[in-house]
Amino acid sequence: MHRALPSLRVLPRRFQSTAATKSSQRAKSSQEIYEKEKRYGAHNYMPIPVALSRGSGIYVHDVEGKKYMDCLSAYSSVNQGHCHPKIVEALIDQAQTLALTSRAFYNDALGEYEEFITSLFNFDKVLPMNTGVEAGETACKLARRWAYDVKGVPVNEARIVFAENNFWGRTLAAVSSSTDPDCYQRFGPYMPGFSIVPYNDLEALEMEFQANPNTAAFMVEPIQGEAGVMVPDDGYLRGVRDLCTKHNVLWIADEVQTGLARTGKMLAVDHENVQPDLLLLGKALSGGLYPVSAVLANDEVMLTIRPGEHGSTFGGNPIACKVAIAALSVLIEEKLAENAARLGPIMQNELKKLPSDIVTNVRGKGLLIAMVIKDTKDYNAWEMCLRLRDNGVLAKPTHGDIIRFAPPLVINDAQLEECLEVIEKTVKSFL
Ligand SMILES: Cc1ncc(COP(=O)(O)O)c(C=O)c1O
Repeated sequence: MHRALPSLRVLPRRFQSTAATKSSQRAKSSQEIYEKEKRYGAHNYMPIPVALSRGSGIYVHDVEGKKYMDCLSAYSSVNQGHCHPKIVEALIDQAQTLALTSRAFYNDALGEYEEFITSLFNFDKVLPMNTGVEAGETACKLARRWAYDVKGVPVNEARIVFAENNFWGRTLAAVSSSTDPDCYQRFGPYMPGFSIVPYNDLEALEMEFQANPNTAAFMVEPIQGEAGVMVPDDGYLRGVRDLCTKHNVLWIADEVQTGLARTGKMLAVDHENVQPDLLLLGKALSGGLYPVSAVLANDEVMLTIRPGEHGSTFGGNPIACKVAIAALSVLIEEKLAENAARLGPIMQNELKKLPSDIVTNVRGKGLLIAMVIKDTKDYNAWEMCLRLRDNGVLAKPTHGDIIRFAPPLVINDAQLEECLEVIEKTVKSFL
């Protein structure tokens, strides 16, 4: 028996034809797209005004058909280039075969992926999640559990140390460790058991370890991405490794942004030939096609979590597994770390030649580069990004005065040259 639907007037808003019909109409102009997002979406981002509808390799197109070079790569997620055919094929094949089983059952893709990624990065085990921040949360849980079960820290007394200006996402644990008021203010109460030390300061780290014998872990980005591409001194990562070993503290390397060929090596920790106890990957682990993240660790840590104590409905799903294998294979087959290592210094050198009264500093590693812009009443990094957009290059400021350049790693010499010409022309237009 069908129940008669109430008249339109009393239907909940989601059933009323006006809103539904309006939203199903495809927006035609960039302006309409901005307005629609503003009207119906939460205001938790402030995008550069450009409305994209297509991407391939290092290029994206807006809805009006204008072509841009992408110099952000979705915050280093699209290292393999937009819509890489091999990754797209893996995604489509698996989507047509089996998409999601949950971990209630085995599936025929997860074990293959686990073997692939653990062999590649030389860890005993992987715990698959979806987003970068979930990888961070997972690592914190593993570290606390390891502290109680292995290190012998009294229950509920474990501490995790973070570096000042860290960024690892937006959950309550992540904002509890943040030193950026925009991230944490008025979101308390905060997660207890977290400490902060200055970044790139081994002495302060050792003092913290000495003061707190209940320290479970130190979580740190090998290069701080969101903080503005802060590259530590040579030897910092090795020093962190040594101090963590000396004080029986786990080192969690957050390579969600720096990992996967971006800095000119497969991992940023490879620049100092060191192995963390827990490795966090995300973003480019799927080449930007799907949310895939991972925590890698050895058995002593990973096996402290038992069935029912952690998980995710989507983590380790067959599409994610096949996409991640394809995304990692592309990095290796196309030698993208080598490309970043070769082109990164060229890009940095050229940016360093720009007028120093506008560009006050250039730093980075591989193709993760920051250009610091003098903030004046005439221009700032945001204004510069708008003008770069007008000239066909997309980048986004981080903080008020820093522009991060992180093009897809499939960029070639000629494309980099063209990109640098646009940047030069844009910077000089402010003279
Ligand atoms: C170093 C680092 N860790 C973690 C994250 C969080 O990743 P996600 O946004 O996928 O949760 C980010 C995001 O920018 C990041 O840069």
